[in-house]
Parts: sequence; structure tokens; C-alpha cells
Amino acid sequence: MIEIQHIKKSFGEKTILNDVSLVMETGKCNLIIGSSGSGKTVLLKCIVGLFTPDEGHVIYDGQSMTELSVQDRKELRQQIGMLFQGSALFDSMTVEQNIKFPLDMFTDLKHKDKIKKVNEVLARVNMEGANKKFPSEISGGMKKRVGIARSIVLNPKYLFCDEPNSGLDPQTSLVIDKLIKDLTLEYNITTVVVTHDMNSVMEIGDHIFYIYQGHKQWEGSNKDIIHSKDEKLNQFIFASEFLQDAKQMRMMEAEKEKAGV
Ligand SMILES: Nc1ncnc2c1ncn2[C@@H]1O[C@H](COP(=O)(O)OP(=O)(O)OP(=O)(O)O)[C@@H](O)[C@H]1O
Ligand SMILES: [Mg+2]
Repeated sequence: MIEIQHIKKSFGEKTILNDVSLVMETGKCNLIIGSSGSGKTVLLKCIVGLFTPDEGHVIYDGQSMTELSVQDRKELRQQIGMLFQGSALFDSMTVEQNIKFPLDMFTDLKHKDKIKKVNEVLARVNMEGANKKFPSEISGGMKKRVGIARSIVLNPKYLFCDEPNSGLDPQTSLVIDKLIKDLTLEYNITTVVVTHDMNSVMEIGDHIFYIYQGHKQWEGSNKDIIHSKDEKLNQFIFASEFLQDAKQMRMMEAEKEKAGV
């Protein structure tokens, strides 16, 4: 479980995050949604420690990140898997070298054992045999899968994905969403996904946090979101061209309500 307590973050005069508190449960896909520029990536970076919040706490299973010793922080860092916005693979490295990178950074495993781990995670994302390919030789969806393979190679307890579906077609997005969901359940990880893809919200959103202009405007499950009365959230949802099903469900609910059913 990750608890975020009263986080504030400003850049110069500009407040980006204003008193954000969230609880993200283990074994769940926790989604952060919101429009472009609302502060989602900044929030994610505060949670993983790439930015230091001006105020507030980030607590990983009872351990407050700001209060950890350098050594404990390093250990925590190894338990965090990250898929950055864009797949952020190293273009000059092969798929195998990309996935092996965290193992080189953080472990003393023998080369042979590292390759075994690489092959295991490659198989897990259905990319067996792609070891020697370069990022420029594979599709966008495959790059994401390699990014996911790299993010799980150290068996993380926490997985962060920033816009895992950006630039992907809806079908490939579904494959990636399913992979993230399956890994979360299989390894009982606390997963945090930043997205503005409403399909993902409905598919994998166990718990959803809607960030509006740097504060938490709404939270709930993918079932609750259909019935939300929050005006700002509704504007965000209805602006999405993808959420046809939810729109239809809502209209049907409204009709029923009118008819007194
Ligand atoms: N390092 C930084 N220095 C100054 N301002 C920053 C920095 N990083 C982000 N910002 C500002 O913080 C605000 C929120 O940015 P953020 O990247 O979190 O948005 P986002 O919700 O992730 O948007 P998108 O959906 O487009 O990725 C923006 O106004 C951005 O310009
Ligand atoms: Mg972002």
C-alpha cells in the first residue's frame, strides 16, 4: 500500500500540486486520470522520489520515503518498477540490453542468470526471441511490452506506468492494459497507472483518482465513475471520444430514473 499525505509541489511561483492525499492499495490497479497539464506526471514523480514534494509524505507500506536512510531508500528504489511516459528505451541498446540494465545497476547476478531473468520476463510479455532487436526495429506496442518487461525484471512490489497506451491503437492498448492488470494480480503489486484513456479506466480502474488543476477532485472505482455527480469529472469524461459505452449506460440510467424504474 502506498499512502500519499498532503503533498504540495510548486515550481517557482506556480503551484502544481495542492494538498493531494491518496491511498493506493496492494494488488489493485490505481489509476490517476486528468487532463493534460493537470499535474499527473509531477504527482507520479513525487511518489517515486524523482521530485521532492515541498510538503507532505509518501509512505510505502508504513515506511515514509522522506525519512529513510540512503541505504533503505536504495532498497526501496529496487522494489519500484517504472514505465515512463513514452517507452523510454535506450535506442542504442538491444531489447536484451535494455531489459538487463536494471539487473546490471542493482544486482550482482552472473551474466548467465541475468539472461535467464531477461528471457523469463520477455516470455511473460510475449516477446520471446526478440533479444537482439533494436527499439527502432519493433512496433510501438512491442516497445511498451519491452518497457514493461524491463520494469518487472527486478520483481517489484510497486509498479508505475505513465501513459502506457499513448500512441497505441485501441486493440494494442487493450493488450497492454490486460498485461498490467494480470501482472498486478499475479505478483500482488501495488500498481499506479497515469492515463487519460477512458477505455483503460473502465477496463482496469480498480481505484481511480481524478486530478483537476493539481488537486484530487474525485476518487472511486470504475463502477462508481458511471454514476458520479461531480461536474468537473463529468466534463472530463464526456470530452472523451472513447467512452461511448459509459455514455450510453448513463443515458439509460437517466431514462430509467425519469421513468421512475
Ligand atoms: N520540471 C518542471 N519544471 C517546471 N514546471 C514543470 C516541470 N514539470 C512539470 N511542470 C509543469 O507542471 C504542470 C503539470 O505537468 P505534468 O507533466 O504533471 O502534466 P500531466 O498532467 O502529466 O500532463 P500530460 O497529460 O500532458 O502528460 C505543467 O504546467 C508543467 O509545465
Ligand atoms: Mg504526463
